[in-house]
Amino acid sequence: MRELLLVVHIFLAIIWAGGIMFIGWGVFPATLKLSLARQRYFLISLMKNTHYLFTLAGTFVIFTGILLGTVFGPIKTWGFLWHTTYGNIFIAALIIGLITLLWGMLVGYREMMIIFKDEFLWKEAEKGNKKPLIGQLIRLAALESVEVVGFVALVFLMVAF
Ligand code: HEM
Repeated sequence: MRELLLVVHIFLAIIWAGGIMFIGWGVFPATLKLSLARQRYFLISLMKNTHYLFTLAGTFVIFTGILLGTVFGPIKTWGFLWHTTYGNIFIAALIIGLITLLWGMLVGYREMMIIFKDEFLWKEAEKGNKKPLIGQLIRLAALESVEVVGFVALVFLMVAF
């Protein structure tokens, strides 16, 4: 049962972290070859469709992680959580996992939608003035990098268990 849960945990983590990084580093650069109107339409529909999947995957990664550490793992008392290396790694993973998930939901996704639905930015870019749009996209990339840092930290913590 524990092995099965670990497999589910790892698969969901691949979907969550891999999916978000693939969109950022694979799909987004490819859309730059499209016209601005198509790029905008495509990215809005892509994010609307995948946002719930990633949120769900991230939620279940955390949930299965909690089960792996507690019900199917060594954490049975609060003392074990605070006074052992395993417990401390678990707390760190839980906190970083929650921050990464909430950041993606409340900051990354929301900011992305605000930028992609901003008529002014896209109309200006179509007229040739791309500076405001590019500025906003760079700000978005900086915000999204918080999630990537979270994923990298989580992978290090998982190896440290
Ligand atoms: C991107 C996010 C994550 C990835 C890629 C990931 C990946 C992994 C991997 C590969 C393992 C197997 C490690 C081993 O057997 O040595 C593992 C185990 C585990 N993970 Fe995660 N994980 C993630 C997030 C989390 C979070 C947020 C939590 C905390 C709630 C967590 C809790 C655990 C626990 C308790 C184990 C079992 C460790 C053990 O007893 O050996 N994971 N995870």
